[in-house]
Amino acid sequence: MEIKVFENAEEIAVAAANLYKELLTEKPDAVLGLATGATPVPTYQKLIKMYENGEISFKDVTTFNLDEYCDLDKNDKNSYYTFMHENLFNSVDIKEENVNFLDGNAADYDAESKRYAEAIKAAGGVDLQLLGIGTNGHIAFNEPADEFTDEAFRVTLTQSTINSNQKYFGDVPMPRYAMTMGIGSIMRSKKILLIATGASKADAIKKLASGEVTPQIPCSILNNHADTIVMVDKAAAELL
Ligand code: PGA
Repeated sequence: MEIKVFENAEEIAVAAANLYKELLTEKPDAVLGLATGATPVPTYQKLIKMYENGEISFKDVTTFNLDEYCDLDKNDKNSYYTFMHENLFNSVDIKEENVNFLDGNAADYDAESKRYAEAIKAAGGVDLQLLGIGTNGHIAFNEPADEFTDEAFRVTLTQSTINSNQKYFGDVPMPRYAMTMGIGSIMRSKKILLIATGASKADAIKKLASGEVTPQIPCSILNNHADTIVMVDKAAAELL
């Protein structure tokens, strides 16, 4: 695992977008694992600019998003489906049929997990998985736990995650559950890029960098991945 420190979020977005450009130039039909949250937005904006400038195309790209809320309509303004369309998909040439999400409203969560795992496998696996990180060290919605998870599952969100994300829902209580890719599915990605910005992530980044691998710090598993890059700004690196 390599940790690179950048001056600010803008510099990270440039470096991250360049990584995508490299991959898409080499493999135009790459499989991208995508993340939601505030952190990846500047990177998505750079990717849109690159697309507009004719530097990259998503026409043969397939995407798999990490997670989706349960008990929320897919078209709700706060769903991750909506988030991805507003922040990336609607502005590039990706084909809707190549866009994949976990169904947070699936009748059978186990069957949904299997469906997603099979779809990822059928697509050839994820070439580049983008991750943010929670203040509690979660990746996707894998919260601190007694053991590492494998495939996708329905998770009860922790209070720490609710505290971080309630702001997006205003006065409406946010969902308490989500469907999330498991740690095993994330670790099977060929390459992983984790980005973190701001002082609120400094403690999680310090724990990640310590090298100790424990399910109580879900991101720590990345120490065992063969090709992971962590891009942090100065604020998120302040405890290193
Ligand atoms: P954020 O979320 O980018 O909105 O901080 C990251 C995460 O919780 O994984």
